[in-house]
Amino acid sequence: MKIEDFLRDIPNFPKEGILFKDITPLLLNHEATKFCLNTLASTLKDRKIDKVVGVESRGFFFGTLLAQELNAGFVPVRKPKKLPYKTISASYALEYGTDSLEIHIDAIQPGDKVLIHDDVLATGGTAEAVCKLIEQLGGEIVQVNFLMELSFLNGRNKLTGKEIFAAITY
Ligand code: PRP
Ligand code: MG
Repeated sequence: MKIEDFLRDIPNFPKEGILFKDITPLLLNHEATKFCLNTLASTLKDRKIDKVVGVESRGFFFGTLLAQELNAGFVPVRKPKKLPYKTISASYALEYGTDSLEIHIDAIQPGDKVLIHDDVLATGGTAEAVCKLIEQLGGEIVQVNFLMELSFLNGRNKLTGKEIFAAITY
């Protein structure tokens, strides 16, 4: 089975000139979803992950599945003003301006072994901000894990020193 066969190319979404990789056909197929989950978890079985952090919103799909697969807790990192309890936040650059992400202050305990998951590594700004949140709370980042890496955008450069895994690289 190939994960790529379950991704759909959408030209000019969300903007002119962007070729969007739609993961919804993958999610529609339970066997392909299971195969993708096994691929994402393949390097992590013996790594004693305490928490899987999923990034709103497309990091939630496989983030919760990975947490179950690895017998770990799930932590949502969310866009501003969505989390109800006390939070810390980290900002990151967009093409125009900045945005930020938040996490509950009690979601990670010092020394927790943390897996960060998101669907796409593009410029790396999102993942870099999530790493800052985890490190601020004293978590140990075991791996930053993606369904796909768009390598031509060099997002890895923002994650130096981190172990990176991508199920697919374009
Ligand atoms: C997309 C994607 C990643 C991020 C990658 O999320 O799901 O989270 O961008 O980009 P970067 O590496 O350049 O930071 P988006 O912010 O569009 O939100 P969504 O997941 O809610 O669709
Ligand atoms: Mg996202």
